[in-house]
Amino acid sequence: MLLDQQPVLGSSIAFAVRCDGLTKSFGEAETKVQVLRGIDLGVRFGEMTLLVGPSGCGKTTLISVIAGLLNPSDGDVQILGESLAGMRTWRKTQFRSKNIGFVFQQYNLLPALTSAENAAVPLIIAGQPRHHAVAKATEVLRSVGMGDKVNSLPSQLSGGQQQRVAIARALVHEPRLLVCDEPTAALDAKSGQTVMELLKAVACRPDRAVIVVTHDSRVFHFGDRIVGMSDGRIESIEEPKRSES
Ligand SMILES: Nc1ncnc2c1ncn2[C@@H]1O[C@H](COP(=O)(O)OP(=O)(O)O)[C@@H](O)[C@H]1O
Ligand SMILES: [Mg+2]
Repeated sequence: MLLDQQPVLGSSIAFAVRCDGLTKSFGEAETKVQVLRGIDLGVRFGEMTLLVGPSGCGKTTLISVIAGLLNPSDGDVQILGESLAGMRTWRKTQFRSKNIGFVFQQYNLLPALTSAENAAVPLIIAGQPRHHAVAKATEVLRSVGMGDKVNSLPSQLSGGQQQRVAIARALVHEPRLLVCDEPTAALDAKSGQTVMELLKAVACRPDRAVIVVTHDSRVFHFGDRIVGMSDGRIESIEEPKRSES
């Protein structure tokens, strides 16, 4: 039994994310590749859930479906109690831009923009006046320890600093779900630790949830739950801190 139904205090929604019978394939007939083979998963509020497994097992595909960037072939995803399957495209885009933040392995910052401008992009896209967006982005950059780099270009920053700008960009609209795809893979050990500490500090609140895809065993101890994937299926769920207590 992978799902338990323990509700969050003060919330009628049991899980930040719930996947039921998710499958995903690419292509047709003889070129068809079955990537997700029936995923049932509940992601709890207030926790950091790590998704681990060998390269090619479907981790990026799963979080792309969870984040509404890819449609599943079958099954459903509920985010914050709302089913993505039933949403029209415009509504899904709106829902995503309000509720979900995404951090990529390779930062994906725009090279001609400063840290503050990069972190402000989601707010500007959502229609906020530029000066408001940049002011809010500056505040979030301070919270991730980048207050002295708001006017720097990505080329003037280290990898770890660029990833912190990318985290600020993912958090600037205060999403309740943060999804990170191998956020420490391109970083040295120390920067990787800093990034994970930040994710834990800024994103793990009682009404929020964080999913981190990683195969970096140096950061496994940050996970409240460690979900092991193999060949498109969930093979194991560990809760290291619960089993300690
Ligand atoms: N758009 C696509 N078209 C065809 N195959 C894909 C596509 N995206 C991913 N795949 C395949 O799905 C499998 C899982 O990929 P992915 O989710 O990126 O794995 P992981 O993130 O665990 O390394 C791989 O075999 C990959 O080649
Ligand atoms: Mg991947």
